Amino acid sequence: MLGINNKVVVITGGTRGIGKTIAKEFAHLGAKIAITARNQELGEKSLSELKKITDNCIFIKTDVSKYKQVENLISSVVKKFGAIDFMINNAANFKSVGDSVIDIETKDWQKIFDVNVNGVFFCTQIAAREMIRLGNGGRIVNVSSIIGVTGKLNCSSYAATKGAINSFTQNAAIDLSKYNILVNAIVPGVCNTEINAGIPKKTREIQEAKIPLGRWAEPEEIAKGVIYLCSDLSTYMTGQLLIVDGGYLAGKEISEIDSVLPEIK
Ligand SMILES: NC(=O)c1ccc[n+]([C@@H]2O[C@H](COP(=O)([O-])OP(=O)(O)OC[C@H]3O[C@@H](n4cnc5c(N)ncnc54)[C@H](OP(=O)(O)O)[C@@H]3O)[C@@H](O)[C@H]2O)c1
Repeated sequence: MLGINNKVVVITGGTRGIGKTIAKEFAHLGAKIAITARNQELGEKSLSELKKITDNCIFIKTDVSKYKQVENLISSVVKKFGAIDFMINNAANFKSVGDSVIDIETKDWQKIFDVNVNGVFFCTQIAAREMIRLGNGGRIVNVSSIIGVTGKLNCSSYAATKGAINSFTQNAAIDLSKYNILVNAIVPGVCNTEINAGIPKKTREIQEAKIPLGRWAEPEEIAKGVIYLCSDLSTYMTGQLLIVDGGYLAGKEISEIDSVLPEIK
């Protein structure tokens, strides 16, 4: 019913956090999976966890900011599985997150753009060319962030990369529509992953109080959105930003107005 069984999916940054969870969700639905990242050891560890669910999975060490490595990734996947149906651009760099715009070092600015923007472009272009060659259409899902929509204190480099991803998603969708390749972004709010493990309890409580659902997302809740965008349940949606944030963007305005409502009445 979902149309995921036996489909071939590539997940960048599939060895940790959200990417690893996306890989597991696809595995449970019978997909053939290639996960990528730079760290070989962690790649093999994540692969052994995936193998408990399916034998149809591989790890291909890849730095998405290097065009030749992405070419190797896609050609290796097609050689192994004979197809590429879904490209999930999830890998991200967090260089200079926490730095004010006046303190960001240019090398860090360059690095985060190399991975988050160039990497998404390289994977999209090379995967799309292969999808077009194979003639079966396809799906591309870019993992963005609500920070690319709202902005955040001391996050301008990361926010700019995610804003670029949002815009790129809309435009790539237009270019690829004639090949039946649907391109969308999933836009998570804060998620319960390793990178947020060090956030102090008090800070987390303040963040959660601003979210209408009252909690961070679990990675499975983001992964299910990615599955939806790749599935047969979604055949007419392209160029869209699927925001999965527990109501944060919707509730932000409401909670601010709430405090003055009694006076209006
Ligand atoms: N966690 C959140 O709260 C949250 C919220 C909104 C959006 N997001 C987005 O969700 C995605 C996943 O976030 P996460 O929290 O799961 O991150 P994470 O735990 O840091 O995982 C990032 C993954 O990307 C890989 N990676 C990093 N640089 C790479 C490169 N140059 N080439 C290939 N792979 C690379 C990492 O492996 P190696 O280091 O071995 O390469 C790792 O597998 C990101 O796009 C992030 O912006 C996360």
